[in-house]
Amino acid sequence: MSIYQQFKRECAEEIIIQGSDRALARTSLEWMEQANARKYSYHFEWLGRPIIQYPQDIVAMQEIIWAVQPDLIIETGIAHGGSLIFFASMLELIGGDGHVLGIDIDIRKHNRDEIEKHRMFKRITMIEGSSIAPEIAASVRAYAANKLRVLLILDSNHTHEHVLEELRLYSSLVRQGS
Ligand SMILES: C[S@@+](CC[C@H](N)C(=O)[O-])C[C@H]1O[C@@H](n2cnc3c(N)ncnc32)[C@H](O)[C@@H]1O
Repeated sequence: MSIYQQFKRECAEEIIIQGSDRALARTSLEWMEQANARKYSYHFEWLGRPIIQYPQDIVAMQEIIWAVQPDLIIETGIAHGGSLIFFASMLELIGGDGHVLGIDIDIRKHNRDEIEKHRMFKRITMIEGSSIAPEIAASVRAYAANKLRVLLILDSNHTHEHVLEELRLYSSLVRQGS
């Protein structure tokens, strides 16, 4: 076993222990509730665009993108475009032809303008419309046809019914391992 593999094994063991640490879970939840009340996740940017994410999630996405090396990243929910720019910049670093497809029910003009003039826009396509509208889902499926490794990020309307419908419409695009 290499030193790296040994380190990863230690990490895996530590993460299991961490996951069953009730005091840590309580403190984390308390922090999350207080941070959420202060709109903490709204206060970050990626390469000049606001990204509405927790920094830890951004790092986790980077790990997933590196592991999967996706051909296509689909994200529902664009807002200011920071997450699209983040995904595009990771694909740019990895190399290859990876592309990002963003869907939003309302792409505001000032956001569209900034995204379109960003240097990472070369890897981005945007569709305006509801992610659960049949015609939008058909466009997304057509776009994803022939793409082998697809990542799907659902960050639009977070109600139970809406996310469930997005999963019904798009989960078949994601293969095992992605
Ligand atoms: C949390 S923000 C997205 C944040 C963005 N992913 C980021 O990380 O910066 C949610 C976005 O979802 C969009 N949205 C809400 N309902 C939607 C729907 N039915 N279909 C597509 N987008 C929707 C909103 O317009 C809003 O821009």
